[in-house]
Amino acid sequence: MTADQSARPWLDPDRSTTERVELLLAQMTLAEKVGQTHQVANIHPDDDAAQLAGGQIGSSLFASGATGGNERDEGVLAANIDAAQRHAVEASRLGIPVLFGRDVIHGHRTVCPIPLGLAASFDVGLVEEVAAVAAAEAVVDGVAWTFAPMVDLSEEPRWGRVAESLGETPVLSGRLAAAIVKGFQSDDPSDPDHIAACAKHFAGYGLSAGGRDYDTVSVGENTLRNLHLRPFKAAVDAGVATIMAAFNDVDGTPMHAHRHLLRDVLKGEWGFDGVVVADWNGIGQLVHQGVAADLRAAALLAIEAGVDLDMCSGSYAAHLAELVESGEVDEALVDDAVRRLLTLKFRLGLFDRPYVGEPIRSNAPTDASRATALRAAHAAHVLVSNNGILPLAPGAGTVHLTGPYAEAAEELFGTWTLDGRGEDVVAPATAFRARLGGEQLLVSDGRFSDRSVQQVRNADVTVAVVGEHPWRSGEANSVTDIGLPAGQLEHLRQLSRIGKPLVVVVYTGRPLELGDVLDLADAVLVVWHPGVEAGNALADIVFGDVAPHGRLPMTFPRTTGHIPTSTHQRPTGRLIELHEEGRQGRYLDDQVFPRLPFGYGLTYTSFEYGELRTVGGTELSGAGEVVVEIDVTNTGDRAGREVVQLSFRDPVAQVTRPLVELVDWAFLDLAPGEKGTASFTVRADQFAYFGTDNTSRVDAGEIVLVAGPDALHGSRLSLRVNP
Ligand code: GLC
Repeated sequence: MTADQSARPWLDPDRSTTERVELLLAQMTLAEKVGQTHQVANIHPDDDAAQLAGGQIGSSLFASGATGGNERDEGVLAANIDAAQRHAVEASRLGIPVLFGRDVIHGHRTVCPIPLGLAASFDVGLVEEVAAVAAAEAVVDGVAWTFAPMVDLSEEPRWGRVAESLGETPVLSGRLAAAIVKGFQSDDPSDPDHIAACAKHFAGYGLSAGGRDYDTVSVGENTLRNLHLRPFKAAVDAGVATIMAAFNDVDGTPMHAHRHLLRDVLKGEWGFDGVVVADWNGIGQLVHQGVAADLRAAALLAIEAGVDLDMCSGSYAAHLAELVESGEVDEALVDDAVRRLLTLKFRLGLFDRPYVGEPIRSNAPTDASRATALRAAHAAHVLVSNNGILPLAPGAGTVHLTGPYAEAAEELFGTWTLDGRGEDVVAPATAFRARLGGEQLLVSDGRFSDRSVQQVRNADVTVAVVGEHPWRSGEANSVTDIGLPAGQLEHLRQLSRIGKPLVVVVYTGRPLELGDVLDLADAVLVVWHPGVEAGNALADIVFGDVAPHGRLPMTFPRTTGHIPTSTHQRPTGRLIELHEEGRQGRYLDDQVFPRLPFGYGLTYTSFEYGELRTVGGTELSGAGEVVVEIDVTNTGDRAGREVVQLSFRDPVAQVTRPLVELVDWAFLDLAPGEKGTASFTVRADQFAYFGTDNTSRVDAGEIVLVAGPDALHGSRLSLRVNP
C-alpha cells in the first residue's frame, strides 16, 4: 500500500467499491458532500480553480448551450480537463476527481445516423457497435460520460426530439437502448475505451402537449408503465450508469420533484443504484413550473424526490447545506446522492486514472469507423415507394442530382452533433461523381429551382435530395406542420411535371407528411440524417450495390391533423382494428390509416408470407415457451432482407391494450427464390402488462399473434395463455 493509500485508504484499488465509498464518505464534510452534487457547464481550469480546490464541483459537462443539440462549440479539450482535474485531485482536501460529461449521441468524430435512423435498422448488434465506436473516440478527448440513449417514446412528429429517440414502441426502443448502454459502457465501465451512459429523459417527455418541447404532460401511471417506462427499465436492466430526469411534469408533478417515480419506482421498485442527474437547470425550472417559490424550495423538492446531481442550476450548491443544517433535509438524503456519485466515479476508474494524459491516439474517422458508419447509414435507408426505377441500372444514362442536400456536409449530420466535422462528410454529389464521372452526372443544388427543372430534360433520371435542415429537429425545435419545408413540394411537382423518372430522397429528423411525394415520385427513400457516410450510402443504394433494408421506427401520419397516430392506438368503443376506416368517429375529410405504418419498408425484391404456425401447440403455460414460425419466400430476382415483425394483441385485459404491439422481430436474408423461416420463441411474460392496480400481471386467456412486414399486415395465430 502506498503512503497515499494509507493516508487515503479509499485509493486502495484492492478494496471493494462499497468499502472505498464508505471510507471516503465518512471523511467528508457536509460542504464537500454538497460539492459532489453540483455540476457546472464548460469548467475552466483557471476561472474555476478555487472551487475545484475547495471540493465544490463534482462534475462538469461540456455543452455548447442549454439547447446544445444544434449549436456548435470549440469542442472538448483533454488538456483543459486535466488542468481542471489537477485542481480537484491535487489541491482539494480529499482529492475527489471531477466527472466530465458530453452529449455524444450518435457518434463523436465519426458521426452516424441520428438515433431515429439507427432505430430504422432494427439492428441491435449494429447499434451497439455504433455506440462502442463513439465511446472509443470520446475517451480520447477526456469524455467519461455521455447523455444517451434517449428513450422517450413519442407519437408526436411535431416534437423535434423524436429525432433523438429510438422510435415509438417499447420493445424496439428498449432493446436498442440496452444495446447502446452496452456499447458505451461495455460490461466493465472502468474499461479505458468506454464511458458511462445515461438513459433519458425520465419520464413521459415524448408526450409533451401539442408536440411543443418542454410542455406539460397529462398521462396516467398505467400508460406510463405499459409504454413509456419500459425502455427505461430495459436500460436499467442493462446496467445503465445514470438516468436523466425530464423537464416535463407528469399530471401536475414536475419530474425533478417526482418522488414517486424517481424514488419509489426507479430507485425502489426497480432497484436502480446509479445516479439520477437533473436535466439542464431542471431543478431551477421548478420555480417556473410554479411548484417552488425559489431555488431553495426547488433544491428541497429535488433532493427529496431523488435527484442526485444538479445540472447547472446551482440550487444544491447554494442551498443544500443550509437545508440540512436547518433540519429541513435529512443529511441521509445527501449521503445517498453522494454514495451514488462516488460509486459511479469508482466504477469508472476515475480515482485510479483521473487524468486523460497525452492523447492515446487520434479520434479522427478511420477506415474501420467509417465502415461502421456506412453500414449504419445503409441500414437507415427506408425505401417507402418504388415503381421499379430503383436500383438505377448501370446503363441508366445521365443522372441529374438536385436539391439542397446534393453538396451538403454538416447538414447531413443531424441534430445533436457536437464534435463531427463537415470536412469528414461524403456528400451525395461527391459519391455520385466518383461513381458516374463528370459526363453522366448533372448536379444542380436546388438554389435555382428553375435551373433544376431545366436540367431534368438534359438527364435520363433525376434524384432530388430534399428534406429538413437538421436544425428543424432536436431540442426546442418543434413544428406545427409536418409537411416538407417551404417550397420543396412545389419544386418536386415542377420536376415531376417534365415526365421523366424522379427519385426523391428525404433527409429528415421526424416523420413527415409524404402523401403528395409518394404520388408524384417514381421512388421515395426516407433517410433521416445519415452522418459522415451519407453520400456513399445513398450511392450504394440508388445504384444497387446495397439493397435498402431499413423499416420505419415511427408511424408516418397522413397529415399533421392525423397526429397522434401510432401503434399505441388502443381499442375504443367504436374501433375494431388498427386504423380501420369505417364511419364511427373517424374523420370526414380524409382516410385514417397511415400509408406509411410502423415497420414499413421495401427493398429491391418481393416477399411472400406463409401462415403463422406453432411448433408444439398453442398452450402457453407458466414459464413455458411456445415456438411460432412463419415461412417467407423471396419471390423477386434480387437478394433481399425481410424484417419479419411479430406483434400481438391482448383482446381481453383489465385495461385497454394496444391494437398492435411489437413483441419481436427477425431478419431473413434471402436469395432470389429462396424460402426462409422466421422462428420466434414466446413466453407468457412477454404479454405481461400493468393492470388497474398498476401491478404487473399475466392473464389467463387468448393472445392473438400477428407476423408480417409491418404493423398493418400479417398472418394471425391465437395462443392460450395459462400463467
Ligand atoms: C439539454 C437536453 C439534454 C442534454 C442536456 C445536456 O437541455 O435536454 O438531453 O443531455 O441538456 O446538454
